[in-house]
Amino acid sequence: MSELALDALHHETRRFPPPEDLAREANATAETYAAAETDRLGFWEEQARALSWEAPWSQVLDWQRPFSKWFVGGRLNACVNAVDRHVENGAGEKVAFHWIGDGERERRDVTYADLQREVCKAANALTSLNVKAGDRVTIYMPMIPETVVTMLACARIGAPHNVVFCGFSSDSLRGRILDSDSRVVVTTDGQFRRGAPTPVKPAVDEALEACPDVRSVLVVRRTGDEVAWNDARDVWWHDVVDSASDQHEAAAFDAEHPLFMMYTSGTTAKPKGILHTTGGYLTHVSATHRLVFDLKPDRDIYWCAADIGWITGHSYIVYGPLINQATSLMYEGTPHPNDKARWWKLIQDHKVTILYTAPTTIRTLMKWGAEELEPYDLSSLRLLGSVGEPINPEAWMWYRDTVGGGRTPVVDTWWQTETGGIMITPLPGVTATKPGAAMTPFPGVSADVVDNDGKSVPDGGGGFLVLTEPWPGMLRGIWGDDERYKQTYWSRFEGVYFAGDGAKRDEDGDLWLLGRVDDVMNVSGHRISTTEVEHALVSHPSVAEAAVVGATDATTGQAIVAFVTPRGSVAEDESSGDEFVQSLRDHVAKQIGPIAKPRQVLVTPELPKTRSGKIMRRLLRDIAEHRELGDVTTLLDPTVTDAIRERMAGGSEKEE
Ligand code: PRX
Repeated sequence: MSELALDALHHETRRFPPPEDLAREANATAETYAAAETDRLGFWEEQARALSWEAPWSQVLDWQRPFSKWFVGGRLNACVNAVDRHVENGAGEKVAFHWIGDGERERRDVTYADLQREVCKAANALTSLNVKAGDRVTIYMPMIPETVVTMLACARIGAPHNVVFCGFSSDSLRGRILDSDSRVVVTTDGQFRRGAPTPVKPAVDEALEACPDVRSVLVVRRTGDEVAWNDARDVWWHDVVDSASDQHEAAAFDAEHPLFMMYTSGTTAKPKGILHTTGGYLTHVSATHRLVFDLKPDRDIYWCAADIGWITGHSYIVYGPLINQATSLMYEGTPHPNDKARWWKLIQDHKVTILYTAPTTIRTLMKWGAEELEPYDLSSLRLLGSVGEPINPEAWMWYRDTVGGGRTPVVDTWWQTETGGIMITPLPGVTATKPGAAMTPFPGVSADVVDNDGKSVPDGGGGFLVLTEPWPGMLRGIWGDDERYKQTYWSRFEGVYFAGDGAKRDEDGDLWLLGRVDDVMNVSGHRISTTEVEHALVSHPSVAEAAVVGATDATTGQAIVAFVTPRGSVAEDESSGDEFVQSLRDHVAKQIGPIAKPRQVLVTPELPKTRSGKIMRRLLRDIAEHRELGDVTTLLDPTVTDAIRERMAGGSEKEE
């Protein structure tokens, strides 16, 4: 965030108290904060009691810093909590998901009883493929009900799932299959993107060329397009799942049994497998879902517009809402310029009451204009949530006033793949919100803002966000790498969790999140590492060196800008053309996935370096954001930046 924007935060005086009718019936009240304040662990125990346990825990927390165990000795089954118990309680006919396809007319309503039947079949099918408790299963699937069914079936048999976002390349997928040592992969023939079928399975086939241990690929027929088939390995979902028994006895697992892993980008080129376990995670996501979104299962239609391939989808499309017996809208598509009113129509037609989405989407819809939503009745909306990146006050106000008609509280929720669930957020019936602020830690969560030496900053100060006490949904580690877990999160400041985000505490003590302080970029709410993109670029045969920075972007929050030095063997006229730049962008998309495609690639004979040979990214960021350059005295060759600037001025920016 720029200095200017930071300064503006100082002067934000607007306050939005909770609407009275919401406050009167809110799931969370001032008492909720008070209860957690008095007895933090007791508060979490109370939340855990909302789940069904087969055996109770004997200890709430076992904290061997930085390793935590929650609800020690407790036993439960995640899928039983998300599905079976609702059916047993007579809610079998309640819709769990109104699923809406990307195309015009496709829709399916999936009830809790439907889910139970499908999940039991899938659990039996996975068992017949020899998947056992503890075995990892990689899931590479689009936003269709079978993806949820597969996750729940894995959870039911105690096989940790490893969902890989379907937009990742075969290379990225391969890395995640290998690191998790998955022996079974579940996928689809293809998917629909913006109404058109696009292939999915070929990426799996390509990835598996170097994954000799994968013995089965279970394939859902989605588009019906022709796919290559390996008889020794591939099985159709409709052959093995549809014919499987819909009866399946679920066993209970230890509270600390691994539920899933999710790979996320860090500051190195290798993504980290963030590990989540069962009892604590489910407690955290269901409590936050119930209290932050004020969920009333009998009245609300809840829509979390994330993709299941990210943590938001895991926690707030699948586990949180299902545990709370919510009825959700699940939409396969994303906002599209050819159908600008689709979102508003979905909200109107399904009478959506709670919407949870990312600032980048809000800004896109805002750019398309209020006139797109005016013809639609959005009066069903009563609560709006934001997640994934800092939300600028203009987008926050537009969300509240134009989308929410000025009635709806906006909850800006800060959290991470690592935290499992929401950590810093307003509570809609209690907090008087400020446009752009995540406000306060959720009850039972302890956060602080510290300076470079780890000292808590006073009100009005800025620094690094840290979490000072363990919480139930916290990651239990990085898959197969305890040392990296300690290094990444627990070594920057003694004894506290380092989130990697900058934050400010205002004069009232409320928190504002300011974006990453490390080499992680946030593009449209997607976490991408600069190092990962740099590695992808230098793996191109014509590239000698690359430096990547995240530049502020009005729509996507940040955009990837790459500075590239070609190899000496590459002719000047070859490297200066658009074609070369395009080939580099495509190369990154191929290596990582289209989400990592740089907005801009600048080819330059040299990168600005210090005398000791370090690339000065700070200067590149200044250049990418068209700012005056900071201190250049340590540069080995100060003329380099002028040359880059000139090229920058002549270059064009690409949007996909
Ligand atoms: O920088 C923060 C930003 O997203 C990062 C976490 O990314 P990921 O693990 O992919 O999870 C995204 C969804 C939870 C954080 O380190 N971030 C997330 N929510 C916010 C945010 N930044 C500011 N405000 C938020 N509400």
